Amino acid sequence: MRRPRFIAEQARHAEGPLGRFIAFIMARETWAENLRAIDALSIEPTDHVLDIGCGPGRGLAELARRAPRGRIAGADPSELMVNTAVQRNRSHVRARLVDVAQAGVDRLPFADAAFDKILCVHVVYFWSDLGAGLHEIARVLKPGGRLALVFRTAADEAAVRAFPSAIYRFPSLEGVVAALDTAGFSVDLAKPDASAPVEPVLLLASRCAV
Ligand SMILES: C[S@@+](CC[C@H](N)C(=O)[O-])C[C@H]1O[C@@H](n2cnc3c(N)ncnc32)[C@H](O)[C@@H]1O
Repeated sequence: MRRPRFIAEQARHAEGPLGRFIAFIMARETWAENLRAIDALSIEPTDHVLDIGCGPGRGLAELARRAPRGRIAGADPSELMVNTAVQRNRSHVRARLVDVAQAGVDRLPFADAAFDKILCVHVVYFWSDLGAGLHEIARVLKPGGRLALVFRTAADEAAVRAFPSAIYRFPSLEGVVAALDTAGFSVDLAKPDASAPVEPVLLLASRCAV
């Protein structure tokens, strides 16, 4: 089904009553893919983990469950999404296990090498500059730290047809792998195993030691 432009705009930057509804839907629609990324990262109890474009924050709650002695951060440019994620995780926020920042990938408000693991699910379509975003991720990831990126590629014809191209820019798999390489990552898994869906793609990468 083709998504109207006003819905796609809300997925990119949710606000107002419609944005609240989109946040509600999003927390269900993307859940399996968030779990796939979280599982692939093999979260340890003391890990520091960042979810970029965390949306309504369901993934943050799962990360807090898996890393109760670590630190979980979310970043999202939408104030509504930040508030929703804080509300969903309020007990963990109060306990300072979870923190949610209003920020985009272009300027993450975290120290260099702050995180062991980072995930980013269905967000790359909205970045203004893929290479700059990956460089910023490399900055906040520890050397050897792992990144899980989930996204639909330009090869997914159904997705390209369904989402307005003025809002969703689907990258090629090769383009993302090349940009990861340039940003100082080595790609661990470029192709899903036979049992995993081809789309959306799950790319795992490690930040190379400097
Ligand atoms: C399709 S939603 C996915 C949310 C969540 N990752 C999930 O899987 O449910 C895209 C999210 O990316 C956020 N976003 C948009 N542009 C962004 C950017 N430049 N950097 C980080 N997040 C961004 C949006 O506010 C929105 O919450």
